[in-house]
Amino acid sequence: MTEYPPALRAENVSVGYSKHEVISGLEVSVSRGHITTLIGPNGSGKSTLLKALARIQPLARGSVYLDGTDIHHMPTKVVARKLGLLPQSPLAPEGITVAGLVRRGRHPHGRSLGRGTIGDTEAVAEALELTGTASFAMRTVDSLSGGQRQRAWIAMVLAQSTPILLLDEPTTFLDIAHQIEVLELLSRLRHEHGKTVLLVLHDLEQAAAYSDQIIALKAGKIAAVGPPKKVATEAFVADVFGLASRVIQDPDTGSPLILPRGRITRDDSTESNTLD
Ligand SMILES: Nc1ncnc2c1ncn2[C@@H]1O[C@H](COP(=O)(O)OP(=O)(O)O)[C@@H](O)[C@H]1O
Ligand SMILES: [Mg+2]
Repeated sequence: MTEYPPALRAENVSVGYSKHEVISGLEVSVSRGHITTLIGPNGSGKSTLLKALARIQPLARGSVYLDGTDIHHMPTKVVARKLGLLPQSPLAPEGITVAGLVRRGRHPHGRSLGRGTIGDTEAVAEALELTGTASFAMRTVDSLSGGQRQRAWIAMVLAQSTPILLLDEPTTFLDIAHQIEVLELLSRLRHEHGKTVLLVLHDLEQAAAYSDQIIALKAGKIAAVGPPKKVATEAFVADVFGLASRVIQDPDTGSPLILPRGRITRDDSTESNTLD
């Protein structure tokens, strides 16, 4: 048992767009110094939950606690020093370089004008180094490949030097080697730098291999929570993804591997039905 409150906690959180409720009455706890992964079908509310936890999305009901304090009672700068968010589809200002983008991660730490401090320079250099983006730091973000661009965004969030990282599909657009590179980086940040990581992934096997805890969403509600080996079962894959499968153990690591055996046609597992 830890004596500290969880890094992030959602209590009875509901969020909607206009009158349409997208997540309802969620209880979520993100443990400090661990990797927690949100998974679930398209449209199940993963991005909405991440934005609600980062205070980007207003709550219809409930509360979010950051380090035990109601996030809606905290000054913006304090929130930005504790928590960095990489949204699912971030937009870069036209013509900005990778280095310029990454420097923007330093804004919560003080002066937005001028040359910045030694601390800023070090944090930017470290973020470029960790993400392998230093070699194209002077190129514009527009000119990069999808994978390079994604790593530049991750570098921007890392430069913010927050103890908590929220990353919405950080491996999208990356080839398999770069996906693993990002997951290994997150694992290093967790193990060597004590970071708390909450991310959205689509790949259940990768989620299982790299997470301490998995939170599965289905139609805006929690379908399962727990350590990967408990969550990634054949019944779970059928229920949440509407997929028949066999789940076996990775012979080297013991992590669950999902062998798809075909779509189960069932109304409540399709994206369109999560919306109505
Ligand atoms: N800005 C928005 N305005 C209206 N509806 C939205 C908006 N963003 C998301 N939604 C709806 O909320 C639901 C959950 O979306 P989202 O949180 O993006 O799911 P996920 O990230 O799991 O794919 C979907 O039905 C989506 O269409
Ligand atoms: Mg999403």
